[in-house]
Parts: sequence; C-alpha cells; structure tokens
Amino acid sequence: MRSDTVLITGASTGIGRSTALHLAEQGYTVFAGVRRDADGAALVAAAPAASAARIVPVLLDVTREDHIRDALARVEAHAPDGLYALINNAGFNLNGAFEYTTEAEARTLMETNVVGLAALSRAALPLLRRYVAGHPGATAKLVNLGSIGSFVGIPWEAYYHASKFAVLGLSEAMRHELWPQGIRVVAVCPGGIVTDFLPKTQAGLNAGLAALPADAPPNYRTGMQKLLAMAGKASSMGSPPEAVAKRIGKVLATAQPRMRYMVGVDARITLVLQRWLPEAWFHAVIRSQFTA
Ligand SMILES: NC(=O)c1ccc[n+]([C@@H]2O[C@H](COP(=O)([O-])OP(=O)(O)OC[C@H]3O[C@@H](n4cnc5c(N)ncnc54)[C@H](OP(=O)(O)O)[C@@H]3O)[C@@H](O)[C@H]2O)c1
Repeated sequence: MRSDTVLITGASTGIGRSTALHLAEQGYTVFAGVRRDADGAALVAAAPAASAARIVPVLLDVTREDHIRDALARVEAHAPDGLYALINNAGFNLNGAFEYTTEAEARTLMETNVVGLAALSRAALPLLRRYVAGHPGATAKLVNLGSIGSFVGIPWEAYYHASKFAVLGLSEAMRHELWPQGIRVVAVCPGGIVTDFLPKTQAGLNAGLAALPADAPPNYRTGMQKLLAMAGKASSMGSPPEAVAKRIGKVLATAQPRMRYMVGVDARITLVLQRWLPEAWFHAVIRSQFTA
C-alpha cells in the first residue's frame, strides 16, 4: 500500500475521476483538482468508505495562477516531505473546420491543454524535487495525458492535435531536463476512451456544422459528418477510463517508467500502421475515414 501524495488535474469526470479513485484505493493521498466544489464532493462520495478520506478535492483551473499557487500550498502543508507525482490530465477538444476556428478559440484550448499543464508542472517542480531529496534512490513522477492524437492528426480537430503533439514534445524535452534530478516524465497516450469527452466532441462537431457559412467548401460539411459518425461508434467501442487509471497506477508503481505508454488496442494498431505503412498510404487511410 502506497502512502505518498499525488496531485491530479481534471478529476471531476472521465479519466481524471477514475484515476483519482483508483490511486486513492491504492493508498495514495490524492489531491484532486476540480473547478467546482460540488464536483469535489461528488468525487469523494463516489469513493469506497475505505479510501474516501484519502481524496482531497482542490479548486484547480489550470489556467488560473492563483489556483495553482493555492493548490500547491495545500499539497505542501499536507506533504512537507514533497509531492510524489503530478498527473496533468485536464484537457478538452475543439472541433470544427480549421478555416473557421478563431484564434481566440485556439488560444483558449492551448491555455488549458498546453500552457496550463506547463505552468502547473513548473510550479510543482520544487515539491517533486523535495520528494526525491527525502527518498534517496526513489524517483518522483510527472505524468502528462497525451493521446493517439499526439502522433496522428485527424481533420476537424486541428488545434486539439496541435495541443497533444505539443504535450508529447514538451514531455520528451522535460524528461531529459528533469532526468538527472530523479523526476521521471511520462506521457500516457490513450486511444478512444468512453468518457464525457466523446459527447462533448459530438456537441462540438454539431456546433461546428451549424456555424458553417452557406458558401463553405462542401467537403467541410461531409467530412465533419463522417467524424461525427465515428465519434458515435467510439462511444460504444472505446476503452473504459479505468484502463487509463490502471496504467497510470502502474506507471506510478514503476521506479523507471518508459517515456510513453499507449492505452487501448485502437491506439496501438494506429501507431503500428503509422510506423509501417508508407506515409502516403497511411494518410490515404486517414482521409478515407475522416473526410469525404
Ligand atoms: N476520452 C478520450 O477518448 C481521450 C483520448 C485520449 C486522450 N484523452 C485526454 O484525457 C484527458 C481527460 O479527458 P477525459 O476523456 O477524461 O474527458 P472529460 O471527461 O471531458 O474530462 C476532462 C476534464 O478536464 C477538466 N478541465 C477542462 N478544462 C480545465 C481547466 N482549464 N482546468 C482544470 N480542469 C479542466 C474538466 O473539468 P470540468 O468538468 O470542470 O470541465 C474535466 O475534469 C484529456 O487531456 C484528454 O485530451 C482523452
């Protein structure tokens, strides 16, 4: 049973919620970032009695400097010997044709998926280092939620892929910089996971379709409708969020985790196809699935 302290963002729903519950059951004290008090209370209420006391909700919008400062102050007060792991899970999708996505929308996405992730990571480094200093021979962990979308860009969510490619690049560079300090940076990259992310994607696509001007290139409408149908299928075929939670649990239990872990058969198959097919063939497959 682990007794170390971890901090996870985006714990109100989906992967973050499942991971917070799983890690608390494993014995960790879990500081669970939420944006509404009610979500924190619901998370604690969902935990089995034996682990509920180990979940500590904290208000944490990763785009808010004051939230980051206050959340880490609470972690430090609870764990003066340092933070064992930070799990940067918060993130969202932005759908629509690239041409009609505004810079304001793109900035909002990047603020959460990339800049907020980086800001919280930077602020947490002293606490992660303190853990390593107090536990000779041990490593601290910084886990970032990438995606199969960190490797493959599909249409109608261009900025989401830009953000997830960025998370992977950031993770790799951070891993090298922080390696000598005993902090292991890991990207966990799921394929389709059945969470609120998928209905939110469907709603985003529907909004994108409704907002298309009458003179938009016709392939925008037909292509988005194809992705909409795919998102509907993924809702029944994806992996459960517990699969990601278990993977993160294993990463935290490993002294020397790898740089990245894929979660889900769909993610693994897609990566194999990308590696082994000639690029033009692979891109033709992507276009056949997501454009018309
Ligand atoms: N589901 C998939 O198929 C899939 C696949 C690959 C990767 N991922 C990644 O996995 C992560 C979790 O996604 P999910 O599937 O669990 O989706 P989800 O159920 O929609 O959860 C997203 C979480 O992020 C939080 N969030 C959004 N903006 C935030 C901000 N500015 N500050 C703090 N929290 C914020 C949400 O909080 P609120 O409830 O307050 O909005 C929610 O807790 C994301 O990074 C996503 O890109 C998901």
